[in-house]
Amino acid sequence: MSKIASGKIKKSSAKLLDEFNASIMFDKELYNEDIDGSIAHVKMLSKQKIISDKSKDKIIEGLNEIKKEVEEGKYKFSIKDEDIHMSIENRLTELIGDDAKRMHTARSRNDQVALDFRLFVLNKNREIVKLLFGLEKILLNIEKKHVDTLLPGMTHLQHAQPINFAYHLLAYSSMFKRDIERFESSIERNNVSPIGCAALAGTPYNTDREYESKLLGFKEVSINCLDTVSDRDFALELLFNISTMMMHISRLSEEIILWSSSEFGFVELSDEYSTSSSIMPQKKNPDVPELLRGKTGRVYGNLISLLTVLKGLPLAYNKDMQEDKEGVFDSVKTASISIKILAKTLESMTVKKENMQNATKKGHLSATDLADYLTKKCGYAFRNAYKITGEIVGYADDHNKDISELNLQELQSFEPKINNDVINVLKLENSMNARNSQGGTSKESTKKQITYFEKWIYPKS
Ligand code: ARG
Repeated sequence: MSKIASGKIKKSSAKLLDEFNASIMFDKELYNEDIDGSIAHVKMLSKQKIISDKSKDKIIEGLNEIKKEVEEGKYKFSIKDEDIHMSIENRLTELIGDDAKRMHTARSRNDQVALDFRLFVLNKNREIVKLLFGLEKILLNIEKKHVDTLLPGMTHLQHAQPINFAYHLLAYSSMFKRDIERFESSIERNNVSPIGCAALAGTPYNTDREYESKLLGFKEVSINCLDTVSDRDFALELLFNISTMMMHISRLSEEIILWSSSEFGFVELSDEYSTSSSIMPQKKNPDVPELLRGKTGRVYGNLISLLTVLKGLPLAYNKDMQEDKEGVFDSVKTASISIKILAKTLESMTVKKENMQNATKKGHLSATDLADYLTKKCGYAFRNAYKITGEIVGYADDHNKDISELNLQELQSFEPKINNDVINVLKLENSMNARNSQGGTSKESTKKQITYFEKWIYPKS
């Protein structure tokens, strides 16, 4: 039986309704935010002389007691209380009696849940940003060691041009930086206090929303109460930002899976962060990156699910909105363990420099350099240079060589104007270093990018 007695509803609710309607099984996660919100609310009420100082003190004392009970595992969450807001209010009444009944003055569960959930989401944004900075630090450490580690840069998963491993990872540093910025900008935009909006239209009490907002650490007070109690954009943004971040994690995971295969052999995962097969004793499986790739699906699902819940809802609060929480809780948990384990997996994996280097000898990675050479040094139009290079590549293939391994005579048989200096041009390391344009893969440019990230991650050093 639900404990909210009402003028309209005389009979106690059906058991099935309690089970269907209740959110306490999952919104208990918001107990901390709910208690903090209530403490700020009663402080404001007493400052405004809406309740007495004595009532305020008793309420705060009771709320702190409840917090302790929850933290010590002594608190009883019951489906009969419907949600975390009623649960805490009912327990407070048991603990301190009638003063508890003054706590809900000038507010509604609609602004209360908007407050609790927003505080929760803002905090989770901050936690994720912290974890992402940890990941960025680990990437940076690996990058610093691998400016000289050549590997084939690919397009269409085909060998394209030589790059270095640091440069490759810097692409991910860039992605995670954008993610961090997205979480941060979401905090900026949504750092707005909903408390005091009451059910939908504000309140006739002489409240002080500014004061309450400051107590809770918000940047400002929301503008329109009708919007505030029905706004869940902050949760959607978190879900979208987590989805984008997981998409980045999933792309890196896919590469780790490929790299750790015997076909690539570019990295070896540590024993600690890989698993074995139950039947094939020789196997070492990349379960971690596979699961990271797989978990990306569920966070996309949570985003689409909340977008769908909110679509077409009339203003203001509708019970549909109770469906906003579980997906967010799930995505937040998934995001946080994913960032942590990705960082550990990267930190503990062995980079097989030699295998990367050897792989660059396949696929004529300096073919573009040869075409550029023919254009710059031998006076060909690029398209014609491209054609001759194609013929030379064909010759090299027929002779089981990479074009970087051809000698001068072989090259001159295609174009006599080719000079001894071509040998250096075709060297893979020189090919890489030739790409010295801003953001390019040359050693010099890669080092600049590392410095850029280092300054961003450690701003004071
Ligand atoms: N448990 C509800 C939720 O999560 C709290 C708000 C209920 N408000 C209401 N008017 N029924 O959305």
